[in-house]
Amino acid sequence: MKFKLKAKTQESTPPIVHLATLCTILLTVIVLYNNFGGQPFPVASPRSSLARYSVISKPSRKGCDIFNGEWVQNPEAPYYTNETCWAIHNHQNCMKHGRPDTEYLRWRWKPRGCELPIFNPGEFLELMRGKSMAFVGDSLARNQVQSLICLLSREEYPEDVSPTKHLEFKRWRYTTYDFTLAIFWSPYLVKAREAEKSSPTLASQFNLYLDEFDEEWTRKMAEFSHVVISAGHWFTRPVIYYENHRRVGCNFENTGNVTRLSTFHAYGKAFRTAFRALNSMKDYKGITYLRTFSPSHFEGGPWNKGGHCQRTRPFKRNETSLEGNDIDLYKSQVEEFRKAKEEGKKRKLKYRLLDTTRPMLLRPDGHPSTYGHWPHEKLTLYNDCVHWCLPGPIDAWNDFLLEIMKRDV
Ligand SMILES: *[C@@H]1O[C@H](CO)[C@@H](O)[C@H](O)[C@H]1NC(C)=O
Ligand SMILES: *[C@@H]1O[C@H](CO)[C@@H](O)[C@H](O)[C@H]1NC(C)=O
Ligand SMILES: *[C@@H]1O[C@H](CO)[C@@H](O)[C@H](O)[C@H]1NC(C)=O
Repeated sequence: MKFKLKAKTQESTPPIVHLATLCTILLTVIVLYNNFGGQPFPVASPRSSLARYSVISKPSRKGCDIFNGEWVQNPEAPYYTNETCWAIHNHQNCMKHGRPDTEYLRWRWKPRGCELPIFNPGEFLELMRGKSMAFVGDSLARNQVQSLICLLSREEYPEDVSPTKHLEFKRWRYTTYDFTLAIFWSPYLVKAREAEKSSPTLASQFNLYLDEFDEEWTRKMAEFSHVVISAGHWFTRPVIYYENHRRVGCNFENTGNVTRLSTFHAYGKAFRTAFRALNSMKDYKGITYLRTFSPSHFEGGPWNKGGHCQRTRPFKRNETSLEGNDIDLYKSQVEEFRKAKEEGKKRKLKYRLLDTTRPMLLRPDGHPSTYGHWPHEKLTLYNDCVHWCLPGPIDAWNDFLLEIMKRDV
């Protein structure tokens, strides 16, 4: 699957194409203005300011649900900036694009009844010594990887050892720690093919083979000791579903006689297939993490009708709740996770939940909104209320990840 965007031609293409293109920019991810090729900035914070860990500190009490809690102020954040970290994707570089408020940078997650420590890069790298971690998913998976590289940058920058030139499949090595980090682009987790464009007004439509592995990533997983799986917003694009090589439905109104199926139905099946791939792979011995659905926060309209996200503070627990489709998506993925975890036990495979949906629901203030790009006079650019500013609340995903990893030591 290739989604090449040509930024230079945008001004001369008709508006209808802009819609499709911008949809692609927003909901997908192409590394358009990719920052990974750049030279590392000098690391600002001195390494000596960090505690050196040869021993891994104790995790929080195992009985404590670290995902149940609230955001509390943290004047010490952020732990990197757009100047100290080169790994920030241009569209998530809110500092660079002039976001005026900075309060969104200064919160940490406080679980009820225990503490979630702020990410400690030395500790993470020590735990991952000689190991390897893969992230499989869409642009939000990449968003987390970029946060991780930035958080780790206080300790070490990795070497780019990507096997291909494809920006969707990057690989890095932390030489001091013999740790490999990789990202696998698979927004649907299962085999997907771009179908014929049915209409120029629609973003390209995909055929989704709900029961077939996406071998671009599944073939490689035996190499990894830790695999973080996630998926989300691509499932709301127009998709035709296939099972057992037959067309079984789609998720949009159509004039033919294709059955309309719910998005969460397909979402659950895709996770089932992804987990089945791991559970059925003889050589796979890794710990599998599910990072749960990341809600968007459009207010005042949907993403393509002026929706925005301009809040500057987190919600309190009682100020919002997960709604409609998001609940169904969340529930179906967690249900598949639980089944896969049971199945995995037969082979002593570990499954761990990064249950970030609730914490992120409370962060309407953490998205780029209009600060993922410069204002463009000829073009209305859509507000991004899906991805997360870096630095920003998504850094907490790595706080959670490290804490859950420590429980397995
Ligand atoms: C970082 O953000 C500041 C504004 O906070 C901006 O002046 C600066 O040019 C940005 N630097 C980079 C490298 O993006
Ligand atoms: C609807 O399905 C029938 C039988 O499956 C088929 O013969 C017919 O061509 C289909 N109609 C459309 C518009 O696809
Ligand atoms: C939410 O709870 C806080 C106390 O934590 C309270 O002050 C506030 O009024 C509540 N808001 C709503 C909308 O219920």
